[in-house]
Amino acid sequence: MGALPLETVVGVIGAGTMGAGIAHVAAAAGHRVVVYDQDDGVAAKAIEGIGVRLDRSVERGRIDEESALVTKGNLVAGTSMDDLALCGLVIEAIIEDLDIKRIVLGGIEEIVSPHAILATNTSSLSVTAIAAELQRPERCIGMHFFNPAPVMRLVEIVHGAVTDPDVASSVFETAEAWGKTAVHTKSTPGFIVNRVARPYYGEALRLLSEGAADVVTLDAVYTECGAWRMGPFTLLDLIGLDVNLDVSKSVYARTFNDPRFAPSYVQQSLVDAGHLGRKSGQGFYEYGPDTVEPEPTTAPDHGLDKEVVVHGDPGALGALVDRWSMRGISVTHVAGDGLISVGDIQLRLTDGRSATRLVSEGVAPPNTAVMDWVHDWNTTSRACIAAASTCSRSSLGTLVGALQAAGFRVTVIEDSPGLVVARTLATLASVAGDTVLHGIASVDAIDTAMRLGTNYPSGPLQWAARVGYGRVVDVLDHLVEAYGEERYRASLWLRRAAQGERPVGKGST
Ligand code: NAI
Repeated sequence: MGALPLETVVGVIGAGTMGAGIAHVAAAAGHRVVVYDQDDGVAAKAIEGIGVRLDRSVERGRIDEESALVTKGNLVAGTSMDDLALCGLVIEAIIEDLDIKRIVLGGIEEIVSPHAILATNTSSLSVTAIAAELQRPERCIGMHFFNPAPVMRLVEIVHGAVTDPDVASSVFETAEAWGKTAVHTKSTPGFIVNRVARPYYGEALRLLSEGAADVVTLDAVYTECGAWRMGPFTLLDLIGLDVNLDVSKSVYARTFNDPRFAPSYVQQSLVDAGHLGRKSGQGFYEYGPDTVEPEPTTAPDHGLDKEVVVHGDPGALGALVDRWSMRGISVTHVAGDGLISVGDIQLRLTDGRSATRLVSEGVAPPNTAVMDWVHDWNTTSRACIAAASTCSRSSLGTLVGALQAAGFRVTVIEDSPGLVVARTLATLASVAGDTVLHGIASVDAIDTAMRLGTNYPSGPLQWAARVGYGRVVDVLDHLVEAYGEERYRASLWLRRAAQGERPVGKGST
């Protein structure tokens, strides 16, 4: 089944932030759109607002005057629900309340043709439950747009338990025809984006509560080593700590308290204090007019005063060796088991064990440091390392100097298992892996959704594949040993992928 034809009249019910954005998108694609809101004048105001945005786009040369006029001409404000009677697709974007959504969609079903599709823009409710009391639940589906809808490319097409696959494919094609990138997902807590993204906040909050580093330093490691566009604490402040906590609590409760999704006391206590982020002037950061932007902790300059020696095949650290070579720093190669030494300190890429644990297990000498993973060795500007409790300060200084000579700013954090990027990527990949394993969404759908819905530099499974699934599983297994918590369990999908049992890149949806 293809996209709905342009003659299909689209209804949007609820003309708030999302409804207005969705109406804009559908009208710009060429549909006649009837917008209805229960509050008098709100639909007309939303259409006026769309007109203002269209005029601004014309002024900025983003669209021509003609298409702005056509889009405006496609928008009509309804004055009662009956005005939606001729719609072939109705998208509701009203208050996030299951009972009210059920009543409203039930009312619409009485008015429209039996062939009409009823879509919900719910962000956290079960599409299956919303559809359950309809006469034709198979014609109900989730169309989850992201805010602001005219700008954000992603739309999650959320299948309820009984959604007709033809309805799903038609709505998928329609979203694509509207210029969006659509992904299929089953209706489960958080769908794809709001479920898979939880560890991004969860691990950052845990590292903060354990005193691994301060907020600004952790944000810098996420953005500079991990290449995430926005650090988790900056992002939480932007979203609103309360809004984000509600999503976390909802996913946690609806997954029957899966420890992976456990909300954070740190966040709860800030919400209790009314520190909600930008909107309240204070969250993890302060937003007063005189506030000085805080700086991440960065090690002072320390010249390179010892020889860099590569023992055997350094594996992923080979890219670091290349950075030294490119800067004319001589590197000596000797036989060994894949590590780097500078003077009397050894450096290893984290495998989920802290440096101190490597020493205490007899795997590494007292002067040992571990380094966090990075998204792209060629462009990363910061290195995040941690030293064993037995490591001497002067040896650590030598290593800092060597990393600075490779062009890194260096951040030394507390010796936390799996440091920052590695443990966050591993936990994201594990949740993503289970999402594939349980047939909720495909590998491609998840990676696309995370890149477009949350601006991740790579999809978590694509990134895990690049690093090597086996290494990701190692990090998770070591985190389980360190914490004794199921929170870090490795998805069976990841284990199978690591053993090459399952073709990578294929999902079941
Ligand atoms: P909003 O509060 O800006 O707008 C909701 C509108 O619905 C209001 O104008 C209200 O008058 C109207 N409304 C409420 N009950 C109604 C009814 N019974 N009949 C007709 N109109 C009714 O809310 P927002 O943010 O646009 O959210 C709408 C839906 O979209 C919610 O389900 C929300 O979870 C979801 N969503 C929100 C996102 C966001 O970032 N704000 C992102 C993705 C989904």
